Amino acid sequence: MAERVEVLLTEQEVDDRIQQIGDQISKDYAGRQVHLVCVLKGGSFFMCELAKRITVPVSLDFMSVSSYGKDTKSSGVIKIVKDLDESLQGKDVIVVEDIVDSGRTLSYLLELLRGRGPKSLALCTLLDKPDRRVVEVKVDYTGFAIPDEFVVGYGLDYDQRYRNLPYIGVVKFE
Ligand code: IMP
Ligand code: MG
Repeated sequence: MAERVEVLLTEQEVDDRIQQIGDQISKDYAGRQVHLVCVLKGGSFFMCELAKRITVPVSLDFMSVSSYGKDTKSSGVIKIVKDLDESLQGKDVIVVEDIVDSGRTLSYLLELLRGRGPKSLALCTLLDKPDRRVVEVKVDYTGFAIPDEFVVGYGLDYDQRYRNLPYIGVVKFE
């Protein structure tokens, strides 16, 4: 199926918003250290940009859970493909995601991570599609709430492509 990509959020808009979230996190966690947990692969571009804008001490870790293949709908089947390297015990953890869609992935993941004894656990997502929510998830920091359309860029893919776009685009299938 042929597809094209239309710009939804420009690079400048995304960068400006990430700066605001970085400022907010730096304020909210003043005097503490934040441990950012990136959900691969989609969250990686956002996490790097966000981490550069946080002024309190930052440590990073990565995990990977099963996500979309070529399908654009969440299967609801989630498995850990790569686990964290470090313990979360006593840490102020912020999970950094690309997008919250049905909420299935995040609700599963947050429960799992909560069981590992972090001092606090927050969720930061670049994008949110609130209309698509099936499972309730508390989001602490949201870049942009967007309409129910399939988006790519800034880490988000369609069939593993377009992650490297420096902006957020909507995939139009024709
Ligand atoms: P959820 O479990 O339905 O919330 O799905 C979350 C995951 O689905 C995200 O971390 C993305 O990997 C993927 N996803 C959801 N919506 C989109 C989209 O519009 N474009 C690309 N990936 C998406
Ligand atoms: Mg993801």
